[in-house]
Amino acid sequence: MLSLTGDGHKEMRSIAMNFMSSERLRTRILSDIEEHTLLVLNSWKDNLCLSASAEAKKFTFYMMAKNILSMEPGKPEIEKIRREYATFMEGVVSPPLEFPGTPYMKALKSRSEICRVIEGVMDTRMNEMIRHGEMKGYNDMLCWCLTESKLSRVQIVDLLLSMLFAGHETSTVAISLAIFFLGRCPKAFQELRDEHLGVARKKAEKGESKLNYEDYKQMIFTDCVIKETLRLGNVVKFLHRKATQDVQYEGYVIPRGWKVLPVLSAVHLDGSIHKDPQEFNPWRWKNKLASAAEFMPYGGGNRLCAGLELAKLELSVFLHHLVLNYRWELAKHDEPLAFPYVEFEEGLPIYVFKISKHAHI
Ligand code: HEM
Repeated sequence: MLSLTGDGHKEMRSIAMNFMSSERLRTRILSDIEEHTLLVLNSWKDNLCLSASAEAKKFTFYMMAKNILSMEPGKPEIEKIRREYATFMEGVVSPPLEFPGTPYMKALKSRSEICRVIEGVMDTRMNEMIRHGEMKGYNDMLCWCLTESKLSRVQIVDLLLSMLFAGHETSTVAISLAIFFLGRCPKAFQELRDEHLGVARKKAEKGESKLNYEDYKQMIFTDCVIKETLRLGNVVKFLHRKATQDVQYEGYVIPRGWKVLPVLSAVHLDGSIHKDPQEFNPWRWKNKLASAAEFMPYGGGNRLCAGLELAKLELSVFLHHLVLNYRWELAKHDEPLAFPYVEFEEGLPIYVFKISKHAHI
């Protein structure tokens, strides 16, 4: 999907968008996000040193695998995909050297292993459909593709893999960056925690426990933290485009066939657009609508991120439970590397300290 153009791209995009509709986000995905957040956070112990990036990766991977293939953590198939996926990612940005043992060749092998697992799940589903005349009990993207679309087997595998890739890496990096920036800015941590204490208090008064969409809508400062994390962190630094015809742009001609790399971080770190651009300052977004000319972490145009609402929801819910239950200290100096994609070389080690339940309400 990520490299398709024209009608093929449109068809896949519309399936992805329908699958992540706001209705679905409210009624199904929000509770999945919360469940997977708690699964990860409840496994942490007080005064433990852990890799924030690895934990974020676990959360986003299991979340996507559940929504795409109804796979639950711990099942052999999902663990196999997780292992292969790690190898696949190591070779994604590597020279295309077709010799045995190169990261590129290992990535190709892992990709076909992942496809094989997905095809296996698809075969099982189709057999169930043939036996029972319907696909009972599934509400995932695979089910959606098999029942609501005319996509071929190959297209379905490609779409599911693209969703896993697009939805997993980016959110992992965004969560890691938020932990990193908040770990260095106690004032922002405290304001964020106060906001979530307010949400938790109101829920307790109403006798509610699980988060709902109205709670999410109250997370105003959280939204500022997420925006600032994406502006300064630049999860996606640049986009890949190719001019399919001669393009006139601000007095220049971009000839047909030329590759163009719009650099999003150039806008986000431009001092004439954002005051003190290297400073983590979530308050800059307070009472301010972010225009596309100053804030474009999700790209734009007909390739605007199809999962941006999901990403915001994931980050907000994760931060909600994180700041309510833990405070943390960065264990080492582990600045995010910026190229070819944002990464913490040492996995962002942090010490986590549990905050007593009584401190909540
Ligand atoms: C903070 C997290 C995220 C960031 C910063 C982000 C950023 C982006 C950007 C910049 C693009 C445009 C790529 C281009 O123009 O070539 C994109 C596309 C896309 N994103 Fe995201 N993304 C995030 C999370 C997600 C999530 C959670 C999903 C869920 C599956 C997702 C699914 C997609 C898809 C399917 C596309 C391709 C859209 C198309 O080609 O029509 N993204 N994303």
